[in-house]
Amino acid sequence: MNIDLREPWRIGPVEVPTRVVLAPMAGVSVQAFRRQGRRFGAGLVCSEMVSCAGIEHRNERTLGYLRVAGDEHPLAIQIFGSDPAVMGEAARMVEAAGADLVDINFGCPVRKVTKTGAGATLLDDPDRACRIVAAVADAVSVPVSVKMRRGTENGSRACLEVGPRLVEAGAQTLTLHPRSARQMYTGDADHSLTADFVERVGVPVIASGDVTSRAKAQAVLATTGAAAVMVGRGAQGNPWVLREIVDGDAAAPSREEVAAELVLFIRETVRELGERRASGFLKKFYGWYLGRGRFPKPFKQELVQLETTDEVVTRLFAAAPGARELVERLEAELPDPADEILLDSMPISLYGGG
Ligand SMILES: Cc1cc2nc3c(=O)[nH]c(=O)nc-3n(C[C@H](O)[C@H](O)[C@H](O)COP(=O)(O)O)c2cc1C
Repeated sequence: MNIDLREPWRIGPVEVPTRVVLAPMAGVSVQAFRRQGRRFGAGLVCSEMVSCAGIEHRNERTLGYLRVAGDEHPLAIQIFGSDPAVMGEAARMVEAAGADLVDINFGCPVRKVTKTGAGATLLDDPDRACRIVAAVADAVSVPVSVKMRRGTENGSRACLEVGPRLVEAGAQTLTLHPRSARQMYTGDADHSLTADFVERVGVPVIASGDVTSRAKAQAVLATTGAAAVMVGRGAQGNPWVLREIVDGDAAAPSREEVAAELVLFIRETVRELGERRASGFLKKFYGWYLGRGRFPKPFKQELVQLETTDEVVTRLFAAAPGARELVERLEAELPDPADEILLDSMPISLYGGG
C-alpha cells in the first residue's frame, strides 16, 4: 500500500498540507500540543472544546482560556453547546480569534455535557443538530466541520442518516469516530462504517479512532476513502508517531530529544496555564513522554513528586544534558507570545470527549 500522506487536500478555501489531523482532546490539546503537532507533520490541529456556556455566564468548571498563536494554522477551534443562536455567536467569536475552521462537537459522551443537550446526544435529535450547523454556518465565513460518533447506542448506524443532513445544513467536512457514545473508548473503532459514511456524505471525511501507526493510517485511508486520518491517544507524549505516519520515519527519538520536547512542553504550558494549574495538569504527560522504555520507571515517579515545574526541568536536564541545546534551538523559533489572540469569552471545558 503506498498512499502519500504528504498529499495536500482542501476544506473549502483551507488547504490542509498533510493527510494527518491531530485530534481535539480535552485536558490534552493545549497550545504546546497543537504547535508540536504541526511541527511533527499534522496538517491540521484542533483545540479542545470550548464552551459556549461562557457566553451565557453559566458556571463552567474550566481549565482556562484558549490562546491562538501564529504557528498553529490551519487550526480548527471546537465549540459545543445545544442552542443554535448561542452556538452561532460562539462561532463568530472563534472566527475572530483566528480559527480557520469552526468545528462542532456532536461526539462528547460525558454525562456533564450530554445532560445539557450538547455533544453526542444531538445525534438523537438531528433536527436540532441541523439547526445548530445552519446557525454556525450562517454566522461565519470560514468552513464549518462537525465531529461525531456513530450514534449514541452500541451498534447504532445513526451517523449514516445524520451525516448527509449535516452536510445539507452547511457542514463542509465531517470527522467520524465510529464508536457509540455508550462505548466511550472501549472496543474497536469500526472503520467499515467509516467507509459507508464516506460513500453517503459527499464531503471530505476525517477518520478518527485507533490510528497509531503508518500501516494503520494507510489501511484506514485505503479501505474507507477518507480524506485524512485523525490521531489522538497515539500522539500523547509521542509526537514522533506523527512523523512516522506522515513520512515513514520510524526512528525512535533519543533521550535528549524526548527530554527536550518535554521541557519545551512544560515551559509553554506553564506560560499558557500558569504554574499552579500547569503543575497538576502536566503530571500525566511525564508518564506519557518517559514511558515506552525511554527512561527507567523510577525516574517518572520522582518527577511526579517534585513540587514545581522548575525542579522537573532541572531533573530532566540533569538526566539528559544534551537536551539544553535542543530546547534553546526550538525556543528560538517560537513566535512572539505578544502576538497571540486570547479567546477570553469562552472557557475551555474540563469535560471533553468525542
Ligand atoms: C482524553 C480525551 C479527550 C478528548 N476530548 C475530545 C474533545 O474535546 N472533543 C472531541 O471531539 N473529541 C475528544 N476526544 C476524542 C478524540 O478526539 C478521538 O476522536 C478519540 O480519542 C479516538 O481517537 P484515538 O483512538 O486516536 O484516540 C477525546 C479523547 C480523549 C482520549
